[in-house]
Amino acid sequence: MARTEVLTSVDIGTSKVTCLIAEVDSDGNIDFVGHGLSPCSGLKRGALIDPEATVRAIEAAVNDAEREAGFSVNNVLVSLTSEYVHSLSSHGVWAVANPEGEISINDVRRVLDSARLVGIPSDREIIHVVPRGFTVDGHEGVRNPVGLSGLRLEVDTHIVAASSAYLQNLGRCLGRATLEVEEDGLIASSMASGLSVLTAEERKLGTAMIDIGAGTVDLSVFCDEEIGHSAICAMGGDLLTQDLARFFRIPQDQAERLKLEKGIVAPAYLDSDEKDRDLETVPATSLSGEEEVEVSRFEMAQVLEARLLDILEWVGKELAKAEKQGLVVTSLVLTGGGAQLPGLANLACRELDLPCRVAAPCYPEKLPDQLASPIYSTAIGLILHGASRRLLPNDVPQGSSKVKVLLGRVGRWLAEVF
Ligand SMILES: Nc1ncnc2c1ncn2[C@@H]1O[C@H](COP(=O)(O)OP(=O)(O)OP(=O)(O)O)[C@@H](O)[C@H]1O
Ligand SMILES: [Mg+2]
Repeated sequence: MARTEVLTSVDIGTSKVTCLIAEVDSDGNIDFVGHGLSPCSGLKRGALIDPEATVRAIEAAVNDAEREAGFSVNNVLVSLTSEYVHSLSSHGVWAVANPEGEISINDVRRVLDSARLVGIPSDREIIHVVPRGFTVDGHEGVRNPVGLSGLRLEVDTHIVAASSAYLQNLGRCLGRATLEVEEDGLIASSMASGLSVLTAEERKLGTAMIDIGAGTVDLSVFCDEEIGHSAICAMGGDLLTQDLARFFRIPQDQAERLKLEKGIVAPAYLDSDEKDRDLETVPATSLSGEEEVEVSRFEMAQVLEARLLDILEWVGKELAKAEKQGLVVTSLVLTGGGAQLPGLANLACRELDLPCRVAAPCYPEKLPDQLASPIYSTAIGLILHGASRRLLPNDVPQGSSKVKVLLGRVGRWLAEVF
């Protein structure tokens, strides 16, 4: 019988904490056995503002997942999403150790170590060093140098680093919930989402994965199956809600309800009979709670469009940075709860001139229906990341693992090199 291992993911988002427990067998089959979701008020724009509330939300989500699974968990994979997470490019060089000049996995590790020596401020820690391409004795574009002959090995990498204080605070919250982060179990949120949402073709041809959460927008560019660029900005669905609340002078919970029930990305996407600004109105209560106000759907769309254009402008600037690094972006994929605002794919396509789709997780196969929502993309991606790390190359013959086939090289590099 296939050996199974338990993996647990905890996605600490600005609006909610999600915990998933999965059993993974040595063939790469993933079975979700527990799931918990708890609203969280401990973060603002991805940053911890109330550790107590965050610990309570983590405990509630994990307890629910444990109850469903029928056992308790301790080691977890955790997502990172905060403006305290940064990415940069780096180059590493290494003289091949073997006198015969055959490059080994140890040489690959050493050249990646040398790429880590990039100057990052002392108050940050490196989380990921993702190879984007190797050069052997001046020949560029080598994908996997192991087994090749050569004396000088170079690598271009994408590095993700996070503030040490942010990591310590996160670790403390998890510790108080009696959880421990697995070794190398921290992963940037949009990288995790990319693993669960993008198709192999999208990762190959060049796609920007954009996770629009409550507090942050997380972007990762996948190209030639590598992660080449990533960035986070502290704007998200909460800001849209706040804009509506301020503009119409209504409480935030009313503004959130209106956004979810009647929000649309821009007046241009309303049906022609809805475009008369006074025609369709939605009732809400005033700030004092004493009066009823009528909110025009047309004006709501105007307010939402203004903020979304800011967000898309930021995305456009990040895509330009990615292109400067030689990455090709042929499409956009939106996920996260905020991506569900009607018309967002059309607006993004109009503003950025790229085809765009809104996506929920499509991997692994046989995903329970209740998890097939954009709000679970990160938590599921964390499980895929953990599964790919478990299935080390010597464990199963190359190509026979479902997870490795699913994740392609991105997952394999994350899995094998670290
Ligand atoms: N149908 C919908 N239309 C518009 N917005 C939606 C819809 N459903 C959810 N949202 C918004 O999605 C956001 C929550 O998304 P998600 O659960 O991905 O965020 P999070 O992971 O908690 O936050 P973050 O990743 O930013 O830390 C909220 O701002 C919510 O208003
Ligand atoms: Mg999120």
